[in-house]
Amino acid sequence: MAYQRVWFRPRILRDVSTVDWSTTILGQKSSLPVYISATALGKLGHPEGELTLTRAAAKTGVIQMIATLASCAFDDILDAAAPGQTFFLQLYVNRDREITRKYVQHAEARGVKGLFITVDAPQLGRREKDMRMKVVDEDAGAEVQKGHEVKKDQGVARAISSFIDPSLSWKDIPWFRSITKMPIILKGIGSAEDAVLAYEAGVQGIVLSNHGGRQLDTARSGIEVLVEVVSALRLRGYWPDPRFEIYVDGGVRRASDVLKAIALGATAVGVGRPFLYAFCAYGQEGVEKAIQIFRDEFEMNMRLLGAKAIKDIVPEMVDAKSLSSHFVMTPQDNLFQNTYQPLQLAKFQESKL
Ligand SMILES: Cc1cc2nc3c(=O)[nH]c(=O)nc-3n(C[C@H](O)[C@H](O)[C@H](O)COP(=O)(O)O)c2cc1C
Repeated sequence: MAYQRVWFRPRILRDVSTVDWSTTILGQKSSLPVYISATALGKLGHPEGELTLTRAAAKTGVIQMIATLASCAFDDILDAAAPGQTFFLQLYVNRDREITRKYVQHAEARGVKGLFITVDAPQLGRREKDMRMKVVDEDAGAEVQKGHEVKKDQGVARAISSFIDPSLSWKDIPWFRSITKMPIILKGIGSAEDAVLAYEAGVQGIVLSNHGGRQLDTARSGIEVLVEVVSALRLRGYWPDPRFEIYVDGGVRRASDVLKAIALGATAVGVGRPFLYAFCAYGQEGVEKAIQIFRDEFEMNMRLLGAKAIKDIVPEMVDAKSLSSHFVMTPQDNLFQNTYQPLQLAKFQESKL
């Protein structure tokens, strides 16, 4: 919805016969300014789980972020990769740091190009639909949790997340730096204050995100936080800085959303549910189709906006004055309204008497 509160200020007569929306993310080539964000437990939606994303990403030149809680084993995903395919790793930090160290160093040895540490989940949010589902399919569980005793009456997400360390703090960043040369990105920043601390901690980037609205209820979405983050960094002389990138995720459904985030300072955006729904319904083909839709939309929207390349997308191309106001008239978000399924009420069994 927040994207609907940002309006375009298009430029005209700029010879847009060819437009190019390819970019680099953390120095890695990407055919789109979009990466596949980590969504856990892919096999709950498709028997081949995250491998559908891997194959589609290879075919389309898009970067996949592998979830710590992926259903497919990390090495199986890497083994399915095309030569030179780029991956990032999403990390949930284990209370046992030795496990985390080994996992991170193994990922680096296998060529993963960025470590996205999730920092907005010291405790997992209360996901009530999930809690009603219970755990039934052992095979769809997270590979990293295989063989561990898990509590199964609180929904699948709670069941597999008890290892996450709630004591994680800024003091741990130097330790991560000491165990890996991969760029470190903090995923789940929700305020300018923390963006400034992240910059000062020397990480290579941040993801402004409310975890797809699944953690702190009513926490603002990434795009809403972006404007204040960029101005706070700029005020301190930290921005722009080619060594520090800002990403945004949450609610990105159209290339026009991506262009708005880029205009406001993001290098790229993460997309979770659209690719998740695509592979749950249609496997690899569904993800390829979703990426094709993004491509078609980039071509058209960049022409209409008057931007030949990503570098031409500048802050003056958007009017974001209403972004921080939560009480403005916005167009109906039909995409959201048609896909969101409300929590079903419990049905009582019919009496046999
Ligand atoms: C089903 C599901 C599982 C997710 N699992 C993880 C996860 O394991 N780790 C993580 O950092 N983020 C996780 N996320 C959050 C996504 O990485 C991303 O922040 C969010 O989905 C972006 O919003 P979008 O789905 O509207 O694109 C998950 C999101 C969904 C919908």
